[in-house]
Amino acid sequence: MPTEIHIAGTAEQVAEDFAQYFADWVEKKPLVTVALSGGSTPKVLFRLWAERYRGRIDWTKVHFFWGDERCVPPDDEESNFKMANGLFLSRVDIPEGNIHRIRGEEEPEAEAKRYAKEITQFVPSRNGLPAFDMILLGMGDDGHTASIFPHQMELLTAEALCAVATHPESGQKRATLTGKVINNAKEVVFLVTGKGKAEKLEEIIEAKDGSGKYPAAHIEPTHGELHWFVDEAAAGRLK
Ligand code: 6PG
Repeated sequence: MPTEIHIAGTAEQVAEDFAQYFADWVEKKPLVTVALSGGSTPKVLFRLWAERYRGRIDWTKVHFFWGDERCVPPDDEESNFKMANGLFLSRVDIPEGNIHRIRGEEEPEAEAKRYAKEITQFVPSRNGLPAFDMILLGMGDDGHTASIFPHQMELLTAEALCAVATHPESGQKRATLTGKVINNAKEVVFLVTGKGKAEKLEEIIEAKDGSGKYPAAHIEPTHGELHWFVDEAAAGRLK
């Protein structure tokens, strides 16, 4: 399936462009399953969804999951859920049952299994795997995505739907969707902004030597679409 690159001038414009794309996309569907990314990039989007799309999207049609979560309590500053809930979910009309958070407070291995079961029960399958309607991803300066880091490339092909990962510097435990689930999505959307991502983005998009060592380079939906929403700073080295 095609890869589409959407370049906007600033990070704010990237969020605006994607928010409009998302609104048009949801409008056509009765119900969607969407996995959110963490980190700082999506903050602009979450604020936009709460402040400008509160009444423009029927949030009761959207079931939110997470692509990864830090193994911390939901009120911890590190929690991806806390960030999304504070900026967005608590500010729109979305039923609690539509929010499928990863329980970072639980024992990681047990939670990875529980979350995988929740996904299987809720997300329709295709090719024998859950097929999210959309998975939002970020990309780290080291080319990681979700919580699949360069030192744990095996998580790209792991049998499990959700695995326990370890942050390479902090050693922080994470729960992450594995590459197989991500690549089985109907749409995968990367939101990548900032100059710090330009080098990896060039290597990944233009598939220069070595891009195979970056997890984000292995996100190639088997049947779905791949979209990159990037700003000019991150796209600065693309031809
Ligand atoms: C996380 C994210 C992670 C993030 C990248 C980019 O839990 O941190 O899911 O994959 O998307 O690290 O982070 P920034 O958006 O902060 O650059």
